[in-house]
Amino acid sequence: MKTDSTLICPVCGSALEWNGKECRCENGHSFDPAKEGYINLLLSHQRRSSHPGDDAAMIQARRRFFDSGAFDSLTALILNSSFITQRSSLSLLDCGCGEGHFLGALSEAHDGQFFGVDVSKEAVRCAAKRYKKAKWIVANGMRKLPFADHSLDAILSVLAPRNPEEFARILKPDGALILGVPGVNHLIELRSRLAANAGDFEEKADEAAVKCAPHFTETHRELLSYQQTLNAVQLADLIQMTPIFWCSSPEAKADVQRLSELTVTISFALLTLQRL
Ligand SMILES: C[S@@+](CC[C@H](N)C(=O)[O-])C[C@H]1O[C@@H](n2cnc3c(N)ncnc32)[C@H](O)[C@@H]1O
Ligand SMILES: [Zn+2]
Repeated sequence: MKTDSTLICPVCGSALEWNGKECRCENGHSFDPAKEGYINLLLSHQRRSSHPGDDAAMIQARRRFFDSGAFDSLTALILNSSFITQRSSLSLLDCGCGEGHFLGALSEAHDGQFFGVDVSKEAVRCAAKRYKKAKWIVANGMRKLPFADHSLDAILSVLAPRNPEEFARILKPDGALILGVPGVNHLIELRSRLAANAGDFEEKADEAAVKCAPHFTETHRELLSYQQTLNAVQLADLIQMTPIFWCSSPEAKADVQRLSELTVTISFALLTLQRL
């Protein structure tokens, strides 16, 4: 059986061997891979509900929205980011990977070992069904991650919860944390119609860097901003997949959903941070 020294057992912390068919540690803890090929390493005490994370409807909305091409420029920004293109091969974790769009694209464009973690089983199942070059794992990114100390070259986190201390533990000393956060005026046209301001978006990138500061220093920031005209299906999917709109009133959402199209600003900051 091939040993993967990157993964560790969530029960005892020893190396986890995953050969596709079987996944177990030397102490006999075993985790049956699902038929779609992912493994579930989420222990019952590591979750707050029986179905944590995004649900199936949100995942499908996110999948349709990505497939529509509206975020292709963000995908290109991540694929071409300096840390990733500098390496001929790399081991990378996408923590809070959702339905797998960004990691799937990375695993198809680059050589290396690619791991996607999400606390939502539905998200990981959806990712594993489509993207076969990455390894997909159900786990809680806010608890101890099932990776060995200093085992990864890079961690990607796009619009997902972050645990900088744990990221620092599993990254190699020269490893990088790549954060995708909303930029200034991101979806401002929808936010104003849906009364979802969610704080000052001008500060999201700085706030993310400050939160990581005890363990990381920012070395690079790339900004992306463009206008995109979305049709009614794209608007409905975007509203469903974006957490800041979940509290918007049903009336405001119905008003937006009566539009046949709306041009919105899409704006992201991509931060690269190095371990201190
Ligand atoms: C807004 S979505 C972003 C998904 C993906 N990064 C993308 O950009 O398409 C946030 C994701 O974080 C996941 N998530 C929430 N809490 C998490 C946790 N504690 N550990 C791992 N994933 C989590 C959700 O299930 C969801 O898939
Ligand atoms: Zn074990």
